[in-house]
Amino acid sequence: MDRHPHRQIRKASPWRRSGSLCAIALIAILTGITPAFGQAILEGERFHPAAANHGMVATSHGLATDVALQVLKDGGNAIDAAVTAGFALAVTQPRSGNIGGGGFMLISKGDGSTPEAIDYREKAPSAASEAMFQDQEGEVVKNRSRFTHLAAGVPGTVSGLALALDRHGTLSLKQALAPAIKLAREGFIVPQRFTEGLEQARDRLERWPASRATFYKPDGSAWKPGERFRQPDLANTLQRIADEGVKGFYEGETARLIAAEMRRHDGLITEKDLKNYQPVVRSPVHGTYRGHDVYSMSPPSSGGTHIVQILNILEDYPMAESGHNSADTIHLMAEAMKLAYADRSKYLGDTDYVDVPLTGLTSKAYADELRETIDPAQARPASMINAGKPAPYESNETTHFSVVDKWGNAVSNTYTINFSYGSGITVQGAGFLLNNEMDDFSAKPGVPNAYGLIGGEANKVEPGKRMLSSMSPTIVRKNGKNFLVTGSPGGSRIITTTLQVIMNVIDHGMNIQTAVAAPRIHHQWLPDEIRIEQGISPDTVRLLENRGHSVVTNSAMGAIQSIMIGEDGTLYGGADPRRSTSSAKGY
Ligand code: GLY
Repeated sequence: MDRHPHRQIRKASPWRRSGSLCAIALIAILTGITPAFGQAILEGERFHPAAANHGMVATSHGLATDVALQVLKDGGNAIDAAVTAGFALAVTQPRSGNIGGGGFMLISKGDGSTPEAIDYREKAPSAASEAMFQDQEGEVVKNRSRFTHLAAGVPGTVSGLALALDRHGTLSLKQALAPAIKLAREGFIVPQRFTEGLEQARDRLERWPASRATFYKPDGSAWKPGERFRQPDLANTLQRIADEGVKGFYEGETARLIAAEMRRHDGLITEKDLKNYQPVVRSPVHGTYRGHDVYSMSPPSSGGTHIVQILNILEDYPMAESGHNSADTIHLMAEAMKLAYADRSKYLGDTDYVDVPLTGLTSKAYADELRETIDPAQARPASMINAGKPAPYESNETTHFSVVDKWGNAVSNTYTINFSYGSGITVQGAGFLLNNEMDDFSAKPGVPNAYGLIGGEANKVEPGKRMLSSMSPTIVRKNGKNFLVTGSPGGSRIITTTLQVIMNVIDHGMNIQTAVAAPRIHHQWLPDEIRIEQGISPDTVRLLENRGHSVVTNSAMGAIQSIMIGEDGTLYGGADPRRSTSSAKGY
């Protein structure tokens, strides 16, 4: 039942809305200028989305948004623009934009056909083995899966973006790469966040001569805001892809450079692993929430499964009446999140290798069973749900972008090299960073990874297997039409961040910019605590503590670049203020 209309579009009463439209029509007659959309409808809101009616791009970097938007203006579709943005981010945002990592792209066409997912997650090299991150006593050697050449999975980004273009795009790979090559060769002006990132990651990057030479000046200092940063090796690598297609990455010079880098430092990726890498077209997970269809990423990501599972649990509660970020609402969300993350630790893995009870996990009947275990008045300790060992949070720098074109096609893409700057290792001579995605496997079942996530047998390391992810590119449809395009970075917090934007829009009637900006909460079963951002009131925290929750305020979570499509077709872009470089623009 859709009890909570979306205030962004319908907040204005009919007379107010028609009054606004009359005013716009009058302005049009008097000035001869036809407004592209009804801005007046947003009057009175605290946060304002970008609004347009032909195309919209939301990314974590203005330059990537600009080149992708230009593709749309030039007549390209959302897939063309998304692939162009993906390559541009690999240049302008090396901490997470990448060609040395992997990710997932969800595509939902404007013709209403079933959405599809492109899985270009990294794979374990063929020489990988179950105990490769354990010592002789079977203890996990923590940094081996994070900061060594063994940490890198076989990258999937280039083949995944190329496949998306091949299946649904109109541009050639060469055309989609052109802006990225230009940005790498001619350079771009460094924003403050770029400098800060390099200073924060100095230890991780400086250990490796190629990383030092690529990301710092000859005197060792970081590039400063306002200075021009060039990446000639990366430009040459991208040019080889433009000239030779995916073979320009997975075979030939680039593959040789990657394999040589591995041989020098006891890594496992071989030229054969690279040549054998293939992305996969998958069916997204599908669920429903208050009359909306929710499509999100299927395994090897856990994201879609648990977003649908949590929504199913919460659907039976009057979330709108409980109120956004009230203690009642946060309590119910946290209890549902705990149950989902406990299941994640046991059941989720790469479905090409293990059976995952997807239908069961995403069924309404199972959600009914789980809901029965929730006490509305009292937190259930994680230890009563299952046992585990808490671990500290680790920084993360996945990145997400959303695109919608004038035909109503929507793309939701999340890709990553895992940590900020991945493994910190730059491929000598090729100018790009390698991921440290092998840490997303269970180094040993039951031992938490960098995000404190516990994995089970289902996610153990196996040759050629894809490691479990939380990335959750998501598209929500309403009455069969694309309605909300969203997704986020944030490691284990991706699932709950994406969930909250969906609920902020559907349950709490927020416009997309408000939904994106609103303070977020997170519970992942272990550690047994609700993590909150600044902006949740102390009395709410006290009420939660009275129910038995441990509440911890920590840094901002996620950077959810989102687009919402109004009933009249107006496109609203929400850029997440948690990243100073976030940018949503339309035309
Ligand atoms: N590397 C984070 C994730 O894929 O979930």
